[in-house]
Amino acid sequence: MTTPETVHSGVVAPQGVWWKPAHKAEKTWVAIAFAWCMILFAMMPIWHLKGQQNPSGIRGRVDPGRFMARTQEFIAAYQVGEENGYPVVEPPAGADVYMIAMMWRWMPVLRLREGVSYTLHLSALDVNHGFSLIQVDGNAQNVNFQIVPGYDYGLRIVPTKTGEYRVICNEFCGIGHHAMVGKIVVLDAAAPAMPLLKDSTATAAAAPAADSAKGGAR
Ligand code: CUA
Repeated sequence: MTTPETVHSGVVAPQGVWWKPAHKAEKTWVAIAFAWCMILFAMMPIWHLKGQQNPSGIRGRVDPGRFMARTQEFIAAYQVGEENGYPVVEPPAGADVYMIAMMWRWMPVLRLREGVSYTLHLSALDVNHGFSLIQVDGNAQNVNFQIVPGYDYGLRIVPTKTGEYRVICNEFCGIGHHAMVGKIVVLDAAAPAMPLLKDSTATAAAAPAADSAKGGAR
C-alpha cells in the first residue's frame, strides 16, 4: 500500500527543492526558449508577407460545370493534337489556360513555352484533388496546390525549364487516385508551333459564352 508521504496531491506537499529560486542556467534556458518562441511567432506573418512563397494570381468561386464548359471552350480554341485520347492544347502567350481535375485524370495535355507568362486556372469537377509537378527524368518541382471543386485557382506562371512534366494528384481521391497523372510539356520559346486542329476564329465565334464566367463567377 502507498503511504501518504509519497502521494503528490493538493493535500500532501511534493518532495524536493521546487520552492528554492531557479538556478541561473535554468533561467537562461527558459529565456532562450521564450525568445525563440517569439521569433517563430513573428516568422509566421513575416514569412507570409516576405517569404515569396504565396502564389500570385486570382482566386474565385466557380460552378464546377461552368469551369468544365470553360475548359472545353479553351480546348476547342487551341487544340493542336491528341494523345492517348486526351486533347493536346497549345495556348498563345499570355492566355488564360485551363486544366481541370476529375476522378481520375487531368484535362487537357498542355504545351507551354519557356519564359512566356500564362494564367493557369485550376479547379476540380468532383472532389478535392492535389496538383504537384514532377519533371520527367528530373526532379519534383516545388509546386503543390489543393484543387477544390467550386474554386478557381488562377496562377500566374512563367515556365522556366523546358521538358516534359507529369502532373501528379497528391490528394487521395478514390480508387483511381494513384493513376491520376496529367501532362505538361514546356517547349523552347523558338520551337515551331503545331497547327491548330480547328480555325480558332471560327471556334471563338461559335462560343459566345466563352467569357461569361468573367463576371463574378471567376
Ligand atoms: Cu485526384 Cu488523387
